[in-house]
Amino acid sequence: MAVLPIVEVPDPRLRLVSEPVSEVTDAVRAFVGDMFDTMYAAHGIGLAAIQVGVAQRILVIDLQDREETGEDGETRPVRNPHAYINPEIVAVSEETSSYNEGCLSIPEQYADVTRPARCTVRWLDEQGAAHEEELSGLLATCMQHEIDHLNGVLFVDHISRLKRQMLLKKLDKARKGAA
Ligand code: NI
Repeated sequence: MAVLPIVEVPDPRLRLVSEPVSEVTDAVRAFVGDMFDTMYAAHGIGLAAIQVGVAQRILVIDLQDREETGEDGETRPVRNPHAYINPEIVAVSEETSSYNEGCLSIPEQYADVTRPARCTVRWLDEQGAAHEEELSGLLATCMQHEIDHLNGVLFVDHISRLKRQMLLKKLDKARKGAA
């Protein structure tokens, strides 16, 4: 288990089309563990393998929206990690929804992105078993955002050129301020 460095814009690796995983091996499972460590350390809800420099079709998601009340009466978030290997969108709804998206590869910058409200996704889990499910809500949004990464697409590609330029300028400024 390890926290890996996150690739940020304008790194050209973020534009690569990732390769399908040919077999879900122990090495893939170990890498998925590192991806979870990296995502939790960065307080993200989703991470694609290319965001740690590996051009393979692997995603991890944990919306961190589950809570549990302990014996002491305190409510705490509970981890709900999911790995998606070779995920594929097989259908999308006509209905759309808008969400203020961010991305660990474009730190601290957010923009409203409109996408299909629901999507049907096919994937392999960490044991190599196949699944197909219709997703909705934040999970549908997050899944589409992460699958975009596997195709070299970033959320800023879905907003106007003017908004994108403003957002990237803000990021530049924030980085210079931090330097
Ligand atoms: Ni992202």
